[in-house]
Amino acid sequence: MFNKLSLKVGILFFFVIVIIEGFLYFVLYINLANERIDEVIGNLLARGNTHREVLEDNFTQTTLEHVGLMESASDFVVVITDPVGEVIVNSDPIDPEMTELIHSINYDKIPTEGIVIEDRWKDEPFIATDSPINISGEHRGHVFMFASTNQVKKILNHLSDQFTLIGLITIGLTIITIFLLTRFITRPLLNMKHATEQLSKGNHQVVLHTERNDELGELAKSITSLSNDLDRMKKERNEFLASISHELRTPLTYVKGYADIVQRQDLKASDREAYLEIIREETTRLSMLIKHLFELAKMDQHTFTIHREKVPFHLILKPIVDLINPVLTKEKLTLAIACPESIEGIVDPNRFQQVLLNILDNAIKHTHEHGHISLEVKQQKDRLDISISDNGEGIPEKELPYIFDRLYRVEKSRSRKSGGTGLGLTIAREIVEAHGGTIDAFSKKGAGTRVIIKLPRSEVDE
Ligand SMILES: Nc1ncnc2c1ncn2[C@@H]1O[C@H](COP(=O)(O)OP(=O)(O)OP(=O)(O)O)[C@@H](O)[C@H]1O
Ligand SMILES: [Mg+2]
Repeated sequence: MFNKLSLKVGILFFFVIVIIEGFLYFVLYINLANERIDEVIGNLLARGNTHREVLEDNFTQTTLEHVGLMESASDFVVVITDPVGEVIVNSDPIDPEMTELIHSINYDKIPTEGIVIEDRWKDEPFIATDSPINISGEHRGHVFMFASTNQVKKILNHLSDQFTLIGLITIGLTIITIFLLTRFITRPLLNMKHATEQLSKGNHQVVLHTERNDELGELAKSITSLSNDLDRMKKERNEFLASISHELRTPLTYVKGYADIVQRQDLKASDREAYLEIIREETTRLSMLIKHLFELAKMDQHTFTIHREKVPFHLILKPIVDLINPVLTKEKLTLAIACPESIEGIVDPNRFQQVLLNILDNAIKHTHEHGHISLEVKQQKDRLDISISDNGEGIPEKELPYIFDRLYRVEKSRSRKSGGTGLGLTIAREIVEAHGGTIDAFSKKGAGTRVIIKLPRSEVDE
């Protein structure tokens, strides 16, 4: 339960909070304590002033004794002196410190509202006030009030006891809060750690709670989507391997079968020739398939690099047209090219020729005699559009989304004419995307197909 992170976060939180709380409590305590002391001293002075007022109204021996009697029952000590500090009445026995204090006063400087003559409650045994008695302008004496500092200390002790109790409760609550908080933060982290461990062990189906909408929720969502991606990739890889082995096995079966037949002595020369032709075609297809697969593997490993150059686009097209012209004549197809000479492409010329060749090859393979193919290059504001259309057999709507997938062929049976490897468009898409562009196909069964490449304007590579 106490994993490292929660412990670290918890201890850090604890110290920060305890320091803040300690500081605030300290300030509060000092303020409260000072207020209480001021209150005690203020009360003492007010009490002395009250006695002084009574005596100013009626300065008789009876009143003096009465005041002394009253305070003898209280926690305070009253000492009433004449104008020069000779004691007239005292409520309790007078300590030597009291006498010393009474005699140390400069009687002329005492204001009529009285003053505090001792407030060092920490060091002295008592605090004291002096209220002078003036009757009709005549200085008649002093009312000294003393209160034991034990009282003040008791009040402060009580206050500090209360603070200690509240402090302990606060620390307890802080610990509980931190414990819950760190669990709240670290538990999802631990779950995610567990999930990623599962992922690395090959279990790609992890379940995480992704309903939180904070950073931890986002992290959980990313891990879940990573696990889904890994799962999908694993499935794709298995499917791909299954199709690859199928793709390799089928031509090999043909080759082996026809090789066996060719060995037979009783075979007609023309048949032998025909079978050998099939063997040649199948081996060509096989080496083509392996070449394509190798290229795709390089693209996947990112060892595939493109070197962009600025070239007039019609120069990229020229070698392709020269290459396919004989096939076009043989298949009785026409090719119309619309590419203004001013258009320049910033592409890897060899790679791009491969893209166009793959697309044109498809158009030729899937267009009937006397069909028409057109290639149009248009300069848009911030991109280049290249569209290749044919009026051939088209692609059924439900097959269209898959034609860029690896090894995907609409016509599953391998007729001699259309039996490609199913990798041409996959390679084309990889190259176009490496150029930062997009490739899409639009088609209608029986009416024809149009492939559109959109290339954003880009910089020439160094
Ligand atoms: N212009 C087109 N007209 C009709 N179908 C097409 C066209 N272009 C592509 N297709 C369909 O899309 C599938 C995938 O094309 P792709 O070029 O990837 O593979 P392929 O031509 O079969 O093989 P490869 O190009 O590797 O020799 C083709 O098998 C074909 O069925
Ligand atoms: Mg093709």
